[in-house]
Amino acid sequence: MDIKSRLAHALAQASGMDAAELENMLETPPNPEMGDIALPCFKLAKTLHKAPPVIANELSERLELPEGVAKACAQGGYLNFYLDAAKRIQDILEAVAEQGENYGGGSEGAGRTVCIDYSSINIAKRCHIGHLSTTAIGNSLYKIYSFLGYKCVGINHLGDWGTQFGKLICAYKLWSSRESIEKGGIDALVELYVRFNNEADEAMEEQARAWFKRIEDDDPEAMEIFNWFKDITLRDVARIYELLGVHFDSYNGESFYKDKWQAVVAELEEKGLLVESEGAKVVMLDKYDMPPCILLKKDGASVYATRDIAAAIYRKKTYDFYKCLYVVAYQQNLHFRQFIKVIELMGYDWAKDLVHVPFGMVSFEGQTLSTRKGNIVYLDELLERAVEKAGDIIEQKNPELPDKQTVARQVGVGAVLFYDLYNSRIKDVDFWWDRALAFEGETGPYVQYTHARACSVLAKSGVSPEQALACTDADLSVLDNAEGREVCALLEGFPQAVRTACDKNEPCVVLRHVTSLCQAFNRFYFEHRIITDDQAGTNANLKLCAAVKTVIKTGLGLAGIEAPVRM
Ligand code: ARG
Repeated sequence: MDIKSRLAHALAQASGMDAAELENMLETPPNPEMGDIALPCFKLAKTLHKAPPVIANELSERLELPEGVAKACAQGGYLNFYLDAAKRIQDILEAVAEQGENYGGGSEGAGRTVCIDYSSINIAKRCHIGHLSTTAIGNSLYKIYSFLGYKCVGINHLGDWGTQFGKLICAYKLWSSRESIEKGGIDALVELYVRFNNEADEAMEEQARAWFKRIEDDDPEAMEIFNWFKDITLRDVARIYELLGVHFDSYNGESFYKDKWQAVVAELEEKGLLVESEGAKVVMLDKYDMPPCILLKKDGASVYATRDIAAAIYRKKTYDFYKCLYVVAYQQNLHFRQFIKVIELMGYDWAKDLVHVPFGMVSFEGQTLSTRKGNIVYLDELLERAVEKAGDIIEQKNPELPDKQTVARQVGVGAVLFYDLYNSRIKDVDFWWDRALAFEGETGPYVQYTHARACSVLAKSGVSPEQALACTDADLSVLDNAEGREVCALLEGFPQAVRTACDKNEPCVVLRHVTSLCQAFNRFYFEHRIITDDQAGTNANLKLCAAVKTVIKTGLGLAGIEAPVRM
């Protein structure tokens, strides 16, 4: 039983109220002078028919302090509890020892499925820095939800539908060959498309439409070429996903719904939601302060929103999700509000479980990036550059390091991910090399380095983290000082940080918590000698190192970042 439930049980004895109910009422006071835990007594006033200060006073007299609580003070309408610091340190280190790398996780999501739509790249286009956030955030949410027991389905909702694919096939037939596409890869496809847009005349446009029609109709030749283009794009992006350690459970993209959206339109028609507007069919949303949601173009073709509605219905049927998250830039806010509202108007109460998780824009060293300006930063190049730069730094700092290449990859990729994930996701990110790769400040390398420092202290003492955590001959009183208590408080708060990150779909909450833990641990490390003549004291210090190391690794892991043992 943890301290809060022990306290709740004691309070239940003293008040005659329900322990579980009381436990829910317990709060953390805004500052430590007011105690470590507080019971706001106005919440009991209704049941006990007394004024809150009276309740606080009576309870403080009647309460039998449970183990780990040093004192209880009535202050106004609050009953504040001060914990026994030594007991608290012992409890937290025991919890980390017991659960190891699962510390902070849980099973509250058991039996629930969460679909996460992320990365969702476009076929025949090259991934650039703009695809970093969706991939990083989506992957992190996948890990956070899984850690809490949810079953996750990662979906790469490919942008693989639209008349541009007719144009691409037409251009390919006119100007290219199998060999040159195989050789040129994604760049060759992009080039073909650009050339088509520059040179196409009406006759070619007509051919392009005919090719697209053949894709729509499942014509074997058209499908073979279309699938081949998809394959080339996915092969190209696979390298990026491998570097990032990202994977997907489904690649069902927009074209997957080419024979499914018609039923959606029929259903909307049947429910009387579709109206004609300038030849197109739309759902009016003026009552909700939104422009109409177009679902059928003049020529009878579907649009992005039609396919998103079909996809949501398909996902609900297939996965029966508890939540379906869409990790997509805030530029698409209106699109998500619109199509989710349409699903609600169709009468599906699960529309409330569709959650747009928006994020801000990425610029690079102060410049906004655009294809038009020709200053695109491609994602593969960004990551490769990061690995290279991390390699250079390692070469300078630690040329003797074994397996430098692996560590350079972990540090370089980690720096990029950390930089992207450290701030609340809605904020725009301006990417700077020197900031991302710095070993000081709130950065990936700083956190990884702290992890490596804790590992090296343990290695020097010849114990594994598990041994240090399991050691029974430890004098924990050496940790009962300002720095040690702060480290322990942060270890203690980690499970809550994971839950907050999950509730808000904000990976930064975990990374920020872990970064504070590193800062606190480094203060401890510089203030106190870890290895001393006193064996039991040393054992306690090593226990703390091991607990910190374990939680940093877990926290970084939840952001998709690796934790090298040496760097
Ligand atoms: N492919 C789209 C884009 O690059 C993102 C798709 C997001 N997912 C979705 N279900 N709409 O803008």
